[in-house]
Amino acid sequence: MQPSVDPTINTLQAHILSQEHDNPRSNETLSWILSALSISAKAIAAQIRRARLIDVLGNVGNANVQGEQQQKLDVLANEIMLRTLGRRDDVAIVASEENENPVFLRDGVDGKRRFCVLFDPLDGSSNLDVCGGVGTIFSIVRHDRRANDPIESVLQAGSRQVAAGYILYGPSTVFTLTLGRGVQMFVLDPSIGAFLRVEEDLQMPDAHKHYSLNEGNRLSFPDGYQNYLHWAQEQTYSSRYAGAMVADIHRILLKGGVFLYPPTAKAPKGKLRLLYEANPMGMIVEQAGGLAMAARDQRILDIEPTQVHQRTPVIMGSTKEVETVLSFL
Ligand code: AHG
Ligand code: MN
Ligand code: MN
Repeated sequence: MQPSVDPTINTLQAHILSQEHDNPRSNETLSWILSALSISAKAIAAQIRRARLIDVLGNVGNANVQGEQQQKLDVLANEIMLRTLGRRDDVAIVASEENENPVFLRDGVDGKRRFCVLFDPLDGSSNLDVCGGVGTIFSIVRHDRRANDPIESVLQAGSRQVAAGYILYGPSTVFTLTLGRGVQMFVLDPSIGAFLRVEEDLQMPDAHKHYSLNEGNRLSFPDGYQNYLHWAQEQTYSSRYAGAMVADIHRILLKGGVFLYPPTAKAPKGKLRLLYEANPMGMIVEQAGGLAMAARDQRILDIEPTQVHQRTPVIMGSTKEVETVLSFL
């Protein structure tokens, strides 16, 4: 069926423009950055769809700064993001999972407000070889012109994000965005090349008896998490784990439940990265009415970062489910 031309159809582009129209502090325009992200999303989606056919699966043969094997598509997606964002005059700094240091592009000496864009170009990349769900995550903060070096400018608490989002490359390509006033969800209609809005001001369910974590690590979780799991299984909770944070959080936004990546023996501070995984996903979850915590008394978005690639434990999802986990810690 061809998409009907309906006046109520709202595209990502139209949403961004209408937000700016309604909120005219407009030396603060994000529209060029968001359009670069939307183009990146389409370009990465196109590569992923044909990955097996155009020989872009597998490792490149070297490790990134975090000691993880880089896949060809990690590198390709990173290049696409850097190329599309690099041209946008509003971007001062980009920081990526795949680059050791943030890249300084231009300053704000002309008085123009500029931004730092932090991203995980390809999340869940070990799913690529098996045609599983993968994603892109991004976080946008204001560039601090007074910062002495680019690293200082990107080290901002998640509560200072002006926008955050993710793209899920699954059976459909989904773009989920928050500008700090609710969560909007769009799906790419490949026949017209546009992201069409499917959820306006998305609110996630308050509770759902589903948990999502790598249970293989169970024996090295701190006791509280093990006790929670024991309790949840007594309550006949279901377990769902895609192995890609974007895919797991996307499911939880729509269906409810809780996502956990606790400290483990291998990753004593947790595995997930604060600035370009936990913060942006945490902002989306909170904007959708959920909670995003790092520990019993530590909200993820309140953590003051000290390193670009710093890690954090993660407990996020439906309010009641997160509160239950916290009660065991
Ligand atoms: P990335 O592919 O960007 O390195 O991220 C993978 C992350 C995250 O997406 C996922 O939730 C987690 O790693 C899975 O880790 P385990 O394989 O340890 O469960
Ligand atoms: Mn990731
Ligand atoms: Mn990644």
